[in-house]
Amino acid sequence: MYAATSWCACANWRQIPCSRSRAGRFSPAPGRRRHKVDTRVFNHPEAVVQGWYWLARSREIRRGQVVSLRLLGRELAVYRGGDGRVAAFDAYCAHMGAHLAEGRVEGNALRCFFHRWRYEADGRCSDIPCLAGQARPQISVRCWPTAERYGMVWLWTGETPTDDLPEVPELAGKACDALVANRFRKRCHPNVVLINAIDEQHFASVHHLPGSILTMEAVPRSVSNIEFRNLGKVPTSKRLGRLLARFYQGPLTYTLSYWYGSLGTVTLGPDFLHLHLMFALRVGDDGSTEGQTLALTRQRRGPLGWLVNRLLLYGTALAARYFAWGDTRVFETIRFDFRHPIPADRAVLAFIRHLESQPLARWHEIDRTGARPRPTRMRLAGTDQESSDG
Ligand code: FES
Ligand SMILES: [Fe+2]
Repeated sequence: MYAATSWCACANWRQIPCSRSRAGRFSPAPGRRRHKVDTRVFNHPEAVVQGWYWLARSREIRRGQVVSLRLLGRELAVYRGGDGRVAAFDAYCAHMGAHLAEGRVEGNALRCFFHRWRYEADGRCSDIPCLAGQARPQISVRCWPTAERYGMVWLWTGETPTDDLPEVPELAGKACDALVANRFRKRCHPNVVLINAIDEQHFASVHHLPGSILTMEAVPRSVSNIEFRNLGKVPTSKRLGRLLARFYQGPLTYTLSYWYGSLGTVTLGPDFLHLHLMFALRVGDDGSTEGQTLALTRQRRGPLGWLVNRLLLYGTALAARYFAWGDTRVFETIRFDFRHPIPADRAVLAFIRHLESQPLARWHEIDRTGARPRPTRMRLAGTDQESSDG
């Protein structure tokens, strides 16, 4: 369903072993050492990798408010209950399909505006006013797991999360301060946007960094997470390089952690001060990227800590804007077609290969009304009538 063609150079470069090519599942292209790879995930708008995706800024969903949101082509009704927790339902009521964002939050539940059925935060229908005092059928709307961190609301595109929310590796398990920076749109798929940050060549051609400064090594961490770290050192042939090299004992710090092909963290900066960014991306209805930039730092105590963190976070967000600005032209016009990889594309190939093995969510297969087709008998005022059982 998602088959498309791109070129793989794994037969040429042993640094990126490819077990699938050894198994002979890919056919060498005639007259070439390169051969074709059928990608089912990479750069396909319909393929939704199971994972965490950004839904909205936390402040966009106030306590007691329900909003209509669209995520990866799916309509949702998202509300914050009286206990402050966010619940995300498929948008359409299990009764007749009214949009639940037209409804009203009652405590921790959501009531449909049309016939006033009430749904608890787990999606279970707990009240049907016209059946007061009578047996109520087991009905529910689909409810998606949500989480809240970094000033954002996140949604897991499956039944039960198998990962914690992604973190910057250096900040894992630590309390963080976050700045929700710019929201952006790019005219290409999120996978292509993420490629940009591990594309060694463009740092010289677009961002004018010395050519040998980046040599990215790919380190898969889990089925959903791959890390890239730089092994290149600051070149000391020029005076500026010699000055910069004083701040790096080893390679220039530039470490990325990618999740689901749509979320990337970046750590950069001299040894005494690391800056951390998160780019949370998702594909929009037109196949473009809807992105949210987050600046992160470890929590520091006291008023001085607060001030230091504000300065750090705004500085980090500015640095992100500077680098993103240089790439704007590429994202506006690119039609990604990876025909001739070269050795400098090692990291890009490793990213694509890792993404191809990630589990897909059944995001587009699940009935969007939330009602399951199996009919059940519902007794109403002494007569048997058919209803859908959620
Ligand atoms: S459509 Fe929602 S209660 Fe009838
Ligand atoms: Fe760039």
